[in-house]
Amino acid sequence: MALPILALLTIALTPLGTAQPRDDVTKRFDCYPEAFNSPLSAADCTARGCVWAESHSPREPKCIYGDNYGYTMVAGSREDTQNGFRVRLTRNADLPPRYASSPDVQEVTLDVEMLSNNMLRFKFYDAATSRYEVPVPVHKPSTPATNPAYTVDLVSEAGKPFGIRVTRRATGTVLWDSSVGGLTFSDQFLQISTLLPSRYVYGFGESEHATYRHKMDYRTWGMFSRDQPPGPPGGDGTAPNLYGVHPYHMCVEDDGNAHSVLLLNSNAMDVTLQPEPALTYRTVGGVLDFYMFLGPSPEDVTQQYTQLIGRPFMPPYWALGFQLCRYGYNTLDRMKQIYDENRQYDIPQDIQYGDIDYMDRQIDFTIDQQNFQGMNDWVQSIRQDGAYYITILDPFISANETDYLPYTRGTDQDVWIKDGDNPDQIMFGKVWPYLPNITMDPDADWDTMIANYAAHTAFPDFLLNSTKQWWVDEIQTFYTEKLQFDGLWIDMNEPANFILGSVNGCSDNQWDQAPYKPRFYGAVLADKTICMNSIQGGTVHYNTHSLYGWSHSVPSQRAMRQATGKRSVIISRSTYPGSGVYAGHWLGDNTSKWPHLHTSIIGMFEFNLFGLPYVGADICGFFDDASPDMCRRWMQLGAFYPFSRNHNGKGFRRQDPAAWNGTIAEASRAVLLTRYRLLPYLYTLFHQAHTSGSTVVRPLMHEFISDKVTWTVDRQFLWGPALLISPVLDEGVLDVTAYVPKARWYDYYTGKEVAETGRMVVWDCDMDCIPLHLRGGYVIPTQEPANTTVFSRRNSLGLLVALDAEGRAEGSLFWDDGDSIDTYENDQYRMLTFTVDQGVLSISVDHDTYSPSPELHFATVRVMGSEGVPDDVTVDGNKVAASAIKTTDGVENMWYLEDIILAMNARHTISWPVPEDPASGAESPKSTPALLFSLITAVLLLLSVQ
Ligand code: NOJ
Repeated sequence: MALPILALLTIALTPLGTAQPRDDVTKRFDCYPEAFNSPLSAADCTARGCVWAESHSPREPKCIYGDNYGYTMVAGSREDTQNGFRVRLTRNADLPPRYASSPDVQEVTLDVEMLSNNMLRFKFYDAATSRYEVPVPVHKPSTPATNPAYTVDLVSEAGKPFGIRVTRRATGTVLWDSSVGGLTFSDQFLQISTLLPSRYVYGFGESEHATYRHKMDYRTWGMFSRDQPPGPPGGDGTAPNLYGVHPYHMCVEDDGNAHSVLLLNSNAMDVTLQPEPALTYRTVGGVLDFYMFLGPSPEDVTQQYTQLIGRPFMPPYWALGFQLCRYGYNTLDRMKQIYDENRQYDIPQDIQYGDIDYMDRQIDFTIDQQNFQGMNDWVQSIRQDGAYYITILDPFISANETDYLPYTRGTDQDVWIKDGDNPDQIMFGKVWPYLPNITMDPDADWDTMIANYAAHTAFPDFLLNSTKQWWVDEIQTFYTEKLQFDGLWIDMNEPANFILGSVNGCSDNQWDQAPYKPRFYGAVLADKTICMNSIQGGTVHYNTHSLYGWSHSVPSQRAMRQATGKRSVIISRSTYPGSGVYAGHWLGDNTSKWPHLHTSIIGMFEFNLFGLPYVGADICGFFDDASPDMCRRWMQLGAFYPFSRNHNGKGFRRQDPAAWNGTIAEASRAVLLTRYRLLPYLYTLFHQAHTSGSTVVRPLMHEFISDKVTWTVDRQFLWGPALLISPVLDEGVLDVTAYVPKARWYDYYTGKEVAETGRMVVWDCDMDCIPLHLRGGYVIPTQEPANTTVFSRRNSLGLLVALDAEGRAEGSLFWDDGDSIDTYENDQYRMLTFTVDQGVLSISVDHDTYSPSPELHFATVRVMGSEGVPDDVTVDGNKVAASAIKTTDGVENMWYLEDIILAMNARHTISWPVPEDPASGAESPKSTPALLFSLITAVLLLLSVQ
């Protein structure tokens, strides 16, 4: 079909195409991104088929795509598919090749799949050639789109580039509009740009971001997994690409609706965010496979996203306890000593770690028999304290040892990544260990040490089933023969390599010398990792590099569950979409500096968005010496990381809570006891994340989306909907400037209501303080703390009841044995719900297929926001003595009961009188006469109305 000139051809998939083209913006998409920081001539630009245009600011590109750059739709090519349609696109024949070495695909196919009412997929691919596609399993919804929240239009204007446009039906907001030019689909360079509906963009990782909300000033973020500590931004304001890759972002539209987009592609890529607002993806391989989630709330998008990529694993209860680690205990005696000192200071601690120094010369599956002799006995002995032990394993395996079975068995089972230049041979890099039986020059510099002394290491190819089985078996053997540990820390799985590429360097091949290198650290792709032409998972490492950490976590979880017979826990440094099903993540080798307190909150937000809620940063910092004040503040903040671990780099000053001559021990203990008290709430949040995909650590925006101020708050965070944490993040500061969204809020420690909300407030905060506030409308389960969760889990429970303006509240509690596998799936759990309305707190047991032994009970209930203090409270119909209704001087409208015994496995009701309209705010408590008076007034009023 011939297109009428300048006519807009809109093919609406759904009856209502409300989309409006966005012609009101300047669309400057960079046609020469590799010219960043280097001179570019107009001739270079036009030779590429682009337009040379003077820029208005230094960041704005000068070489931009014209309207003719891209593809047009092949007339009549549209065909319906099962849940969408397919069209074919053809590249403008007048365009020069993008890169001579990377043939452009002349005909590209686009499939649009309407996966559900809130989820769609659009995928650009080459129907004629099989290209790499990400093997991470996705779970498409089983319910079809019956009433989609979106329309999909294809936009094709004669002489202009093709685009796909997605519109939110309810509001007419255009969420995606790629009819802006620049679509490129060549063998090793693919690019697509789209306009965005707002400048509120969050996500893309892994990088250290200075603000949670992205700056839309032509910043380009590289995504390619890399052994790279978080560090300061480079010249263009962009910080380095770190350990994991998450080509996923959420955008909050100006009216507060949210959507998110995943580009399911594992090749090296970058994304540029620019002011129109718009963004551009560039990747060096694979296909352009997009999934879009329509929300409309931020929590909805996270739930929809994790529906597709998999819900986060359920951590064992003990994994929510405090964890202690350092690189460089160097001896078991030192590890014991520090562990014991923390016990002496009564620091709550559930987990002790061993870093690579427990190994014999840093060789996986070994124990240093000189310095760590008796390690397993000690590990077993700390169980009587209720403590657990997590050990580290790196992926690479030494090839230079004699009688080292993990290597020989691996070779027999053909588990290694192969050399791309000699595919029959193993690809060797150099990481740890050093060669056996050598004398090293202690003054040699790092490069010399690696060159002269580092052993050859082979890299397991975890994409192969044989390798997965080998890894499971090696872990089982290690567990059975040497060390009974509880959880596994998998490190260096970007994969890291201390030399460039391989022991033979990398050859001059199309993968290592790809025509486009996305904007990230390292001059070549193989920098700090293995050669791109290495053979892995039946393809080249070029395609699979950023999947390494994900592929490592899959058999690691299986191995630990098999070895321990328990749920266990995996922490992985490198992650990819879907990793959250298997592993948590720590934010890597941060530094003991104040700004890293703030960026750790942003990192937590991002990983919650990415479906990895079990996340935290190294408390007190990995590199450099922490100061006592910083460490104290960091312990306060870190007590609210879901993954709460103090970890330190080798050679740096001791920084565990018992260090510092005990000066921060008490403050650490106090805040950790608060954490432990709140663990039933945190555990329930993890259960919700596991079953419905919600976040655990939550930006304020997720709960208060109608309040635009919250859209940029990233110095405070929530646990779920109900606990607001506002830490001190700066040196020498004794107050907190915090935003308190409109709601009722109560000081966690006193129960006192926050007087002013919907504004910034300043709270005094001495060195022992971290402000915590409970949100009205929620019931939060608590438990008497202890120094490990083994003991705290036997203690009595409590309820914090924070009433909203209507005097209502609700909450829940998930409980199981804490470490069996799949207790929810196997129906071995207890679920309680709490509701408060009209002065009646109901505790109900909604599900009861697990009974703790001994059985638990609620011993305390604290009610905040009641109208004064009632003198008439009944518990399960029995009146409570007035003297048992406790209050705190100076705190109005708060009362509590303690030393009650309400069995956890039964229904209960606690009631107290309330005024008829609690929102009207009667000043005094309602005694019986006052209630009678209210009743008589109400009757009189009624009579007068009639
Ligand atoms: C790098 C990790 O990021 C760090 O946490 C660990 O201590 C060292 N490797 C040594 O294993």
